[in-house]
Amino acid sequence: MQVVSISSLKGGVGKTSVTLGLASAALNQGISTLVIDLDPHADATTGLGVEPGTTAPIGELLRRPRKGGLDEIVSRSAWTLRQHRRHPQRQARLDVAQGSALTGFYDRPDLRPRDLRRLAKLLESSNNYDLVLIDCPPSLSGLTRMAWFASDGVVLVAEPSLFSVAGTERSLRALELFRKEFSTHLRTVGVVANRYREASPEHAFRLSELRGMFGERLLSPVIPEVPAWQQIQGAAHAVHHWPGEDIQGTATLFDELLGSVRSSLETH
Ligand SMILES: Nc1ncnc2c1ncn2[C@@H]1O[C@H](COP(=O)(O)OP(=O)(O)OP(=O)(O)O)[C@@H](O)[C@H]1O
Ligand SMILES: [Mg+2]
Repeated sequence: MQVVSISSLKGGVGKTSVTLGLASAALNQGISTLVIDLDPHADATTGLGVEPGTTAPIGELLRRPRKGGLDEIVSRSAWTLRQHRRHPQRQARLDVAQGSALTGFYDRPDLRPRDLRRLAKLLESSNNYDLVLIDCPPSLSGLTRMAWFASDGVVLVAEPSLFSVAGTERSLRALELFRKEFSTHLRTVGVVANRYREASPEHAFRLSELRGMFGERLLSPVIPEVPAWQQIQGAAHAVHHWPGEDIQGTATLFDELLGSVRSSLETH
């Protein structure tokens, strides 16, 4: 089982979108996946076509952990049914541990070591998945640190903009300090540049800045700005299930990105 956190210090750069794109690619490739929605906003839960509140949210289990509890609370994504209709031979599961405001309780800077380990402990008792994607809130506070502690690797998401580039550098430093402090096996998988507009000179400049700063840690491929993205998320669809050649091009990019993420964890 590979556990990956999708994080950024800055809000709105595309953590949830990248999580959902990777989940869509995993479903397409037949990789059984659990998305853990740690963000109190529960955007990933909604994007996966699950009505928040239909089962106990992850926040409840974090506060009152019980062995095997994770497998009891997960909900099947609505994407799974569509995928099985299209490709009955590919029987991967895609589940979500639902987000809710309850996780907000842990999003504070002074988390005790006992609390930091809560998610890692829950994951220890589950072996139904090949891949776990953790959608983090926009901070490097308690929840993100709890996610990092439970993870094999971290993907940082950045937009090609001044503040996002600066924020990503800070996140990378925080990640290095975290690794030293807790000497975990955590890897920095790399930085995903999201919402790239090819025609924008500012974006081209910021992308080259990201390349200069992060070198090989800038993951390939870059994810472009997709005009239909909001529509796809609003309809709670997988990008791989959305019609149109352009969108299928983006779906292929997420297939490649998932390959980069997974192989980075395997080779270390
Ligand atoms: N590649 C893209 N093309 C077009 N729109 C995008 C793209 N990526 C993200 N968006 C849009 O940008 C907005 C923010 O994206 P998203 O919610 O994924 O960011 P986030 O980092 O998870 O935000 P938060 O910090 O609030 O959790 C959403 O409306 C989303 O639809
Ligand atoms: Mg989000």
